[in-house]
Amino acid sequence: MTEATRLRRELPTHETELLTRGFIFACTAKNESECLNGPLFATKSVYGPIVIRIRKGDLLFLNNLDTNVLHGVFRAVSDGGFRVSPDAFGGRYPYQVEVDPVSEILALSNAKKVLKKLDVKRNTPLFHEKLVQLLDAFVRDAPLSLKEQRRTPAEGPIQDLIRTIHNSHAEVDIENEIPLVDATTLWDFPKQSYGLVPKGNNKYAGVTPALIIYNLVWRYTNPGDLVVDPMCGSGTTIDVCKEEKRRVIGYDISPTRSDIIQNDAREILLDNNSVDMVFIDSPYGDNVRYSEHPDDIGHISSESEEFYNELEKVMYEAFRVLKEGKVLGWLIGDQWVRNQFTPVGFKVYERLCKYFEPMDIVCVSRRGQHSHTGMWLNRARRLNFYLRGFKYLIIMKKSSGKPVSKKARKIEWTHYKRGQ
Ligand SMILES: C[S@@+](CC[C@H](N)C(=O)[O-])C[C@H]1O[C@@H](n2cnc3c(N)ncnc32)[C@H](O)[C@@H]1O
Repeated sequence: MTEATRLRRELPTHETELLTRGFIFACTAKNESECLNGPLFATKSVYGPIVIRIRKGDLLFLNNLDTNVLHGVFRAVSDGGFRVSPDAFGGRYPYQVEVDPVSEILALSNAKKVLKKLDVKRNTPLFHEKLVQLLDAFVRDAPLSLKEQRRTPAEGPIQDLIRTIHNSHAEVDIENEIPLVDATTLWDFPKQSYGLVPKGNNKYAGVTPALIIYNLVWRYTNPGDLVVDPMCGSGTTIDVCKEEKRRVIGYDISPTRSDIIQNDAREILLDNNSVDMVFIDSPYGDNVRYSEHPDDIGHISSESEEFYNELEKVMYEAFRVLKEGKVLGWLIGDQWVRNQFTPVGFKVYERLCKYFEPMDIVCVSRRGQHSHTGMWLNRARRLNFYLRGFKYLIIMKKSSGKPVSKKARKIEWTHYKRGQ
């Protein structure tokens, strides 16, 4: 961990010099006035990861996609959040931030061209020079006030902002590109963590890639929801949930940190129907020695039925604590050892189906495997076996209790004609 990262974790934010960041929201001709009159900027769930990172004091801009105009400059007067004003925009844009104009609102035309030149995407915040360049463009090219179509004294406050940002020595404290959720069922994360603050401990044997949890959290929960990881290991789930503004409880039979509660996953200390999402990256058998604790399920071979019987107790507990209609994500990998293949993933899936409804299965690339060395790759070819290249992320749902429609579904496929 770098010194700067340590400081950021330890100091309350008001004791560090905060970097001013810039964010761009979009609107249409239809809802521009609701944004400007609120004044409240809002967006869809897909941009939630960006909005929850906005903090009071950040600079904001509003891009009208129909007129190709960028309105500015605004300052966030609240942190970005979920349903700040639940009824605004008919509830269609739940990620919101309250804003105030820094001075009179200016309108910069040819927004698309300006943003392209600055290489600004919706999930890239602006800092330092890039933010200064955009503010400069406002002073230089947008001298018309939105209301009065005349030269305004708005330049003064914007020039002040430019000077302050220019002289700021604050460090970048947010990712350049905030990850958006994956769109397909094939996930491949080159690094264990994301962002500037480490998640979990990448030296912990069996640590989970943080973006797996990030994807599940953003797909299946809202900020403020409760996420539980009954086999929390080095605490990746706790760190992801905290950064993504979820409540979280992490347990493990052998805790590695003080914020992980010692507990056996076969008896979770929570009420029925009280949790919004459960994530579990369980042992895959006895291939990793997590601890010497006698109740560590990682002491049992995945070649024996006992392994699945014990995991089933964990599944039942996850089912019990989950609210109806909520999701469990279970990460699991197969085993090939001494000429014997064990389809651990399918066996776990079978047991999960006793309690849950299947939602989906994601194939997660196994990176950083100790066995992926030249010697093992060579052996795998020579002796005709495969090294494990992927894990299953099994996504299950606790039934909402509503009867499933028995009506046959009619699907109108678009068939491609052969030979065309
Ligand atoms: C694959 S690791 C979890 C890794 C974790 N997600 C992370 O990112 O660091 C599996 C964990 O299950 C824990 N475990 C094994 N048996 C357990 C049990 N009976 N109750 C709770 N945790 C258990 C182990 O201690 C280990 O930390």
